[in-house]
Amino acid sequence: MGDPLLYRRAEPVDISAGFDLDSLIEDMFDTMAARNGAGLAAPQIGVSKRVVVFGFQSNPRYPEAGSVPTTVLVNPEIEPLTDRTEEGWEGCLSVPGMRGLVPRYRQIRYRGHDQKGERIDRTVDGFHARVVQHECDHLDGILYPMRIADLHNFGYEEVLFPQL
Ligand code: NI
Repeated sequence: MGDPLLYRRAEPVDISAGFDLDSLIEDMFDTMAARNGAGLAAPQIGVSKRVVVFGFQSNPRYPEAGSVPTTVLVNPEIEPLTDRTEEGWEGCLSVPGMRGLVPRYRQIRYRGHDQKGERIDRTVDGFHARVVQHECDHLDGILYPMRIADLHNFGYEEVLFPQL
């Protein structure tokens, strides 16, 4: 947090030209795994492109969360399917050691392409929807603390969640 690259709108990937994102995606999954992240966006490793990865079977940082399929999403688009939001605790590898309570749409449809150029089109809710909204925010230069409704609900992980 604080790096101007994280506050910039990331550039779309040119799908028509064909693309080789293999090394970027490998770096992203390595970074995510090393820190037990639920997801990661390319700007978080210094690459201002519209690429996110996410997914896990279970995650020690989010013990209550159900599994989310391992996904690469290029040029994602999100459409909220409800006006209803719900608040949930989030962390971010770019804001280490902190957690905040963030409102997100409960149900969304998201679309994009995977690393092979295949289309992805899913309707999801709950933690899956939260992760996608969080990661896609990174592509628009938004970090989760900017979305916390009440900053009393922002603090150190070890204070808020000493059991983790
Ligand atoms: Ni993040």
